[in-house]
This record gives sequence, C-alpha cells and structure tokens, in this order.
Amino acid sequence: MAIAPESNPAIPHTTLVLAMSLDGKIADVQRGAARFSSAADLTHLEAQVAAADGVLFGGGTLRAYGTTLSVRNAELLAQRRQRGQPEQPVQIVWSPSGNLNPEMRFFRQAVPRGLVTTAAGAQGWEVNQFQHIWTIPADKTHPWDWKWVLAQFKQAGISSLALLGGGGLAADLLRCHCIHDIWITVCPLILGGTTAPTPVEGAGFLADLAPRLRLVSHRTVGDEVFLHYRVLPLHRTANSFTLENNQPSPTG
Ligand SMILES: NC(=O)c1ccc[n+]([C@@H]2O[C@H](COP(=O)([O-])OP(=O)(O)OC[C@H]3O[C@@H](n4cnc5c(N)ncnc54)[C@H](OP(=O)(O)O)[C@@H]3O)[C@@H](O)[C@H]2O)c1
Repeated sequence: MAIAPESNPAIPHTTLVLAMSLDGKIADVQRGAARFSSAADLTHLEAQVAAADGVLFGGGTLRAYGTTLSVRNAELLAQRRQRGQPEQPVQIVWSPSGNLNPEMRFFRQAVPRGLVTTAAGAQGWEVNQFQHIWTIPADKTHPWDWKWVLAQFKQAGISSLALLGGGGLAADLLRCHCIHDIWITVCPLILGGTTAPTPVEGAGFLADLAPRLRLVSHRTVGDEVFLHYRVLPLHRTANSFTLENNQPSPTG
C-alpha cells in the first residue's frame, strides 16, 4: 500500500523550510526566535513563502517570533500576480489551545491569517484576527489527523504549503507522511544544549521506520549550505516496507 504524500492529490504539496546550526538546533536553549541565519537565507525563505498558497507554523514558533514573514520583494509579488495568486499567502498557525496573545504584531500584519485549532481553541477569535478558522473535530486530534486537516486546506484552494516549523509541528506532519520536500539551511554556528529545539521533535522514529530522503540540490553561499531533500515514498508490505526508486530496503 502506497503511503507517500505524492500518492494523495487531496492534500497540498508541503515543503518544510528551516535553518539549523551545524549541530542540528533550530534555536538556542532559550527557545526564542532563531535569527542566526544570513541575509541570503532570509531571501531564500521569502522565496519559499512567495511560492506558496499557504504558510503553516506552530504556536510555539509564533510565540517565539510574534510575527510572520510576509512577501515584500517586488519581483516575488509580481510573480504571484502572474500566477494568479493573492498578494500574500494565508499565514496559518496551528494552536490546539488557541492560547495566543492577540497583542502580537502578527495580528497587525497585512496578511490573511488562519488558525487550526480545537473547538475550545477557536473560542473568542474575531474575523479581523483570523479570516480562516479550521476547527478540527475532537476525534481527529488524538493524534492529529494531518491528512484530514491538509485536505481541508486543499479544498480551500491551498495547493502548495510552506511549513516553517517548529520541530513539534514538523514531527507531527512527518508522522502523517504529509511532508514532500525539505529545505534545510546549515548555518555556521554551534548552539548545543539538550533542550534546544531540533528540526523534528516529538517521539522520534525508529531507524527502520524513519522517513528517507533523496538529495535534490545543494548550494553554498558564504559559510551556509542550502540543502534540498525530497521525502521518499514508502511502500508497506505485510511485515516490513521497501523504499521506491530502487533504494535498498532499510530492513536489509
Ligand atoms: N530555525 C528555524 O528555521 C526555526 C523555524 C521555526 C521555529 N524555530 C524555533 O522553534 C521553536 C518552536 O518550536 P516548537 O517545537 O517549540 O513549537 P512549534 O512546532 O512551533 O509549535 C508546537 C505546537 O504544538 C502544539 N501542541 C500540541 N500538543 C501539544 C502538547 N501536548 N504539548 C505541547 N505543545 C503541543 C502547541 O499548541 P498550543 O499553541 O496549543 O500550545 C504548539 O502550537 C522556537 O524556538 C523557534 O524559534 C526555528
């Protein structure tokens, strides 16, 4: 049975975009905003945002930054118009609790905003704060049924999704086989610390069942390396699985 995201046209094409220290941390131990990457990485991130119909990030990320990255580059804005996309992608936060500070600058940015939450988390939010609220049924939140959530996005016209972290959200979408592409910028610093966040948090994957990737491209700008990986489809069999594309089975 194919369980690759490619095999499911009902969900948007989803691309995870992160910047990481050489030692695999996406922020320092204070878990604040990660501002360690270069101007070239910000340009890269803006291009990824500009290419998408929607942008998804976790509540932890929004609390750390208080803001989101809108498209400002004139050429990228013109390309969006040419593709028939709205000026800005919808900026969607995943927050089951809905416990977000409405005073954050995010709520004053000139971008369409969306919220993915529970019935309780949706309480009290006004249409000027979130133009789109996806309230997920309780039977789809333990664990979160991201295939179902992303299908709602697709039905709302979101065919491409940029996933901007953090590690909690990335782990949840990988668990559901909902990430197609991964861009990681390796940055020239070492953050260390066992409590510093990493690209993929959660319970983790056993090596035999871990998502496998193929390198699509790599580019160096100064001391940073821009890596583009594609998540390989998995094909389950009765007791094990094999990878497509003639890759050796990780089970041996
Ligand atoms: N370097 C980079 O490229 C990059 C990119 C993004 C983020 N970051 C960093 O990543 C950090 C944030 O990542 P994160 O993994 O902490 O957060 P996150 O992935 O942004 O958000 C975690 C989400 O999990 C939800 N959640 C669901 N069940 C939960 C549970 N049982 N316990 C806790 N949360 C639960 C939380 O919901 P509620 O809202 O209801 O609490 C929250 O929205 C920040 O330090 C940020 O700077 C770095």
